[in-house]
Amino acid sequence: MKNIVILISGRGSNMEAIVRAAIPGARIAAVIANRPDAAGLAFAAHHGIDTRVVDHKAYPSREAFDEALAAVIDGFAPDLVVLAGFMRVLTNGFVEHYAGRLLNIHPSLLPSFPGLHTHQRALEAGVRVAGTTVHFVTPTLDCGPIVIQAVVPVLPGDDEAALAARVLVQEHRIYPQAVRWFVEGRLSVEGHRVAVLDEAPGPAGWTVPPTGA
Ligand code: GRF
Repeated sequence: MKNIVILISGRGSNMEAIVRAAIPGARIAAVIANRPDAAGLAFAAHHGIDTRVVDHKAYPSREAFDEALAAVIDGFAPDLVVLAGFMRVLTNGFVEHYAGRLLNIHPSLLPSFPGLHTHQRALEAGVRVAGTTVHFVTPTLDCGPIVIQAVVPVLPGDDEAALAARVLVQEHRIYPQAVRWFVEGRLSVEGHRVAVLDEAPGPAGWTVPPTGA
């Protein structure tokens, strides 16, 4: 059984998708938020999952917060730490401590549009497709080895909210898939590339004709 700790900051819909996927061999050991009002905590508690809050505002520095957070995480002996809408930039020390067992989801087709205001920037750039990326976390923000991506169309009339909603549907599909691969021991990282053992032929993330959904 692999222990998974999920970090959230707010709504937690990706965390919810991973919990609901009930991945064989995976135990969601804890959901930890950096904000006491993170809405996703209620869902986790309701599902009998241990919840913790490590409030970043209670710490004088990024380093102090990351150390406290790591201490709480490590109390759950995680095989995998999953960032699911966790809106804090992590220190190199933290990232290196979890090297190879720290995943993030970002709502763009990385390496395009890393960082904040992703959807707005994608719309302003006039791209015709957008999407989402699950990647291993390395010290450079949103730049780690890519595990899976999904593509959605950008449609005429899209605003930030419409595009974000279309992308989110795919996030809820690919994040549980990436976690499942990790739990099954099928991911290996070679340089910047991730290999998936016995992956079905065809790109796993390619998706959706432009239905506007
Ligand atoms: C998602 O779009 C995720 O990609 C981004 O923040 C959002 C979090 O949503 N990092 P949720 O909290 O999982 O609902």
